[in-house]
Amino acid sequence: MVMTDTTNKNLAYLAMDDEYVNPVLARSARIVAHRAKGSYIYDMNGDAYLDFTTGIAVNNVGHCHPRVVEAIKQQCEQLIHTSVVTHHERYIELAKKVVEITPKTLNSAFFANSGAEAVEGAVKLARYVTNRPAVINFRGSFHGRTFMTMALTTSKLYYRENYEPLPGSIHTSMFPYEYRSHFRGDTKAVIKESLDYMDMLFHQFVSPNQVAAILIEPILGEGGYVPAPEGFIKALRAICDEHGIMLIIDEVQTGFGRTGKMFCIEHDNVEPDILIMAKGIAGGMPLSGFVSRRDITSKWLPGRHGSTFGGNPVSCAAALATIDVIQEEKLVERAATLGDDMQKRFKKFAEKHKHIGEVRGRGLMIGIEFNDENGEPSKEIADQVAAKCMEQKLIVLTCGNRGQVIRLIPPLNISDADAEKACEILEKAMTLK
Ligand SMILES: Cc1ncc(COP(=O)(O)O)c(C=O)c1O
Repeated sequence: MVMTDTTNKNLAYLAMDDEYVNPVLARSARIVAHRAKGSYIYDMNGDAYLDFTTGIAVNNVGHCHPRVVEAIKQQCEQLIHTSVVTHHERYIELAKKVVEITPKTLNSAFFANSGAEAVEGAVKLARYVTNRPAVINFRGSFHGRTFMTMALTTSKLYYRENYEPLPGSIHTSMFPYEYRSHFRGDTKAVIKESLDYMDMLFHQFVSPNQVAAILIEPILGEGGYVPAPEGFIKALRAICDEHGIMLIIDEVQTGFGRTGKMFCIEHDNVEPDILIMAKGIAGGMPLSGFVSRRDITSKWLPGRHGSTFGGNPVSCAAALATIDVIQEEKLVERAATLGDDMQKRFKKFAEKHKHIGEVRGRGLMIGIEFNDENGEPSKEIADQVAAKCMEQKLIVLTCGNRGQVIRLIPPLNISDADAEKACEILEKAMTLK
């Protein structure tokens, strides 16, 4: 289609985008979203696209859920912003709510605007309170695009390249990524290899008594939708307890029902010292936060951290409505059962398709990893599958260190019919014919 096609209303806007928007902003789908509802995005032509991206794990309750929209409207009429000049009702109510739904020892909440900002705040808290400099992160992790979070991110080179120097005192340990490990098929050995690597770090790179925090995503997100195997995070908890290190769990992508639990760490039955949240918290409004224990946060003196917009009343009102919807519509349970069904289906499908290396994930956070004929990661196939889905108006994203994984992140309240439609499109796309 050429730019003179007057029937495609997206084109004029795409041309303006090309002219005025900073080209660093990469978009996956070259359509202009005009409106969205539930599981669908509508472009300027009125064409409907089934959304298996949820704005990267944000619209867990679907686009423009009426209860979230209503909460936003009401809050706008009442109070939009006061910043840290005053207390406000929605911040306090949301802090209480977040304490109620996170692991039971966590009881002190802070709100910010983006995932990266929340990670920065959590690391500041850990450093301040322990008075130690170092942070241990994991290979394949993604924590954001600010300088500190970029330094903590190793999912792909292009997030870091040409931005050096980055903040220091970060030591990268091995994530137990079984499928690409020499010990594939022996989960215990994969876990041991990772823990041995950390032990090596503690003997050759940094003393554990200089480590403020171990920071981990319970499922690598950007890094390929790789769940930490059972027992690994428990082992990290023990290391943290032994050395007085804080365990920080980054639930920016895994939170709010996505994995079939309200927070993914519940699968591991571990109490972190700090839990970071963002994305799915507020139905699409910008909001993030972290929750810790009062005995930790009471050592962080007032004013040592803050944010002008963080915990804005409108975003907090949207979050309160979003959490109500997740609880009342039983979306955690829905993610668990639909996610299980979809994984089983794709695992079965994979048996007959050699280029599908692994289907994995938890709840409605599912990754499908592709191989070339030599068993090496294949970005080419993942891109081809994503493109074929797009032709059928199903939007999916890729991830993984080489871009070799398709990630499925639909709304948790997607209908059975739409889930079925997406599975059929995906299966067709994955047959590669
Ligand atoms: C696990 C994780 N942490 C942090 C971030 C950064 O969030 P934001 O893009 O809101 O800064 C992301 C974003 O994808 C993420 O997936």
